[in-house]
Amino acid sequence: MRLLVTGGAGFIGSNFVHQTVRERPDTQVTVLDALTYAGDRASLDPVAEAIRLVHGDVADRELVDGLVGEADAVVHFAAESHNDNSLNDPSPFVRTNVEGTFSLLEAVRRHDVRYHHISTDEVYGDLELDDPAKFTPQTPYNPSSPYSATKAASDLLVRAWVRSFGVRATISNCSNNYGPFQHVEKFIPRQITNIIDGVRPKLYGTGANVRDWIHVSDHNDAVWTILERGRIGETYLIGADGEQSNKDVVALICELMGQGPDAYDLVSDRPGHDLRYAIDASKLRDELGWRPRFTTFRDGLVDTIEWYRANEAWWRPRKAATEARYAQLGR
Ligand code: NAD
Ligand code: TYD
Repeated sequence: MRLLVTGGAGFIGSNFVHQTVRERPDTQVTVLDALTYAGDRASLDPVAEAIRLVHGDVADRELVDGLVGEADAVVHFAAESHNDNSLNDPSPFVRTNVEGTFSLLEAVRRHDVRYHHISTDEVYGDLELDDPAKFTPQTPYNPSSPYSATKAASDLLVRAWVRSFGVRATISNCSNNYGPFQHVEKFIPRQITNIIDGVRPKLYGTGANVRDWIHVSDHNDAVWTILERGRIGETYLIGADGEQSNKDVVALICELMGQGPDAYDLVSDRPGHDLRYAIDASKLRDELGWRPRFTTFRDGLVDTIEWYRANEAWWRPRKAATEARYAQLGR
C-alpha cells in the first residue's frame, strides 16, 4: 500500500510512521509535513531511510493533489493542535485544520483515494465532573475553543464529502494521548521536563479538570484497525478508559520522579477550560475488536518519563521558547 501520512513529523504522526515501518514493511510511506514549530525532522530520523518526507503545506492544493494522486490511502494527522495557542492566535488553526482538510478532501474526491481523518474528542465539548456520562458517536458537537471548533468544522466537511460525493472516508475522535515525541508545550511532557529542569509542575486552576488518557501506540493501533476494517462513512471513538484528574496526573509524575506529591504550583486557569472528557469506545471494541495494550496508566507514564530522560537532545531545543510563551500568558 502507498500511504500518504500528513503531519507525520508531529507527535502522533511520527509514532504512527515508526509503528507502520516496523510492523507493516510492505507499506510505502510518504509524509507531508510543513515542519511548523510542532514538527521535527528528528522525530523521523529512526525511519528516515524507509520513508519519503515532503516538506509542504496541506493547504497547498496543487502539491496535495499530486501527492494524493500517487497514493492508495491518506491518513490525515496534520493540524494545529494546542488549545492554548488557539486562544492566542486562531488564524493558523482555521487555515491548517479547515482549509487543509478541504484541500485533502478535494484531492481524494478527484482521485478516489481512501481517506482516514484523525480528530479529537474535544469536538463534543465537555462533561460535568460529577456526571458518569461519556462521549459516544451520538453526542452532539459542541466545541469550546478555536482549536476544537476548527477540528469540528473539519470533521463536518468529511461527513459532507462522504454523503455528497461518495468519498471513501472514516473519522476517528480520540482522547488525550501521551508517549514519546510529544511537544513540551503539552501537559505531561511539560511537567516531566520541568522536573528534570528543577522547576515545579504547573497546574491550571484547581487541577480538578479530568482528561481521558491513552498511550499513543494504542491510538495508532486503532487507526490501522479502522483504516483496514472500518466501515466507510463511519465515525469511531478511540479511548482506553484512562480518566484522571490533572492533579492526580501531576501527583503521579511527582512520585515517579522522586518529588513530594504536592510539589507543584497552581497557576491561572485557561479561559473556557473544558472540565472533563471521557470516551465510550464500545463501537470500536465491539465492531472491530480493537483493545488497548497499555492498560495501566502508571506503566505508560514510567516509560514516557524514561523516554524524556533519555532523549533530552530531542526536546531541549524547544523548551526555553515554550516556557517563554507560557510566561507571557502567566501560566
Ligand atoms: P502535533 O502538533 O504534535 O503535530 C502536528 C503536525 O502537523 C506537526 O508535525 C506540524 O508540523 C504539522 N503541520 C501543522 N500545520 C501543517 C500544515 N499546514 N501542513 C502540513 N503539516 C502541518 O499534533 P499531534 O498531537 O500529533 O496531533 C495530530 C492529530 O491528532 C491532530 O489532528 C490532532 O487534532 C489529533 N489529536 C491529537 C490528540 C492529542 O492528545 N495530541 C488527541 C486526539 C486527536
Ligand atoms: P493539554 O495537554 O494542553 O491538552 P488538552 O487541552 O487538549 O486537553 O492539557 C491537558 C490538561 O492539562 C488540560 O486540562 C489543561 C491542563 N494543563 C495544566 O494544568 N498545566 C499545563 O501546564 C498544561 C500545558 C495543561
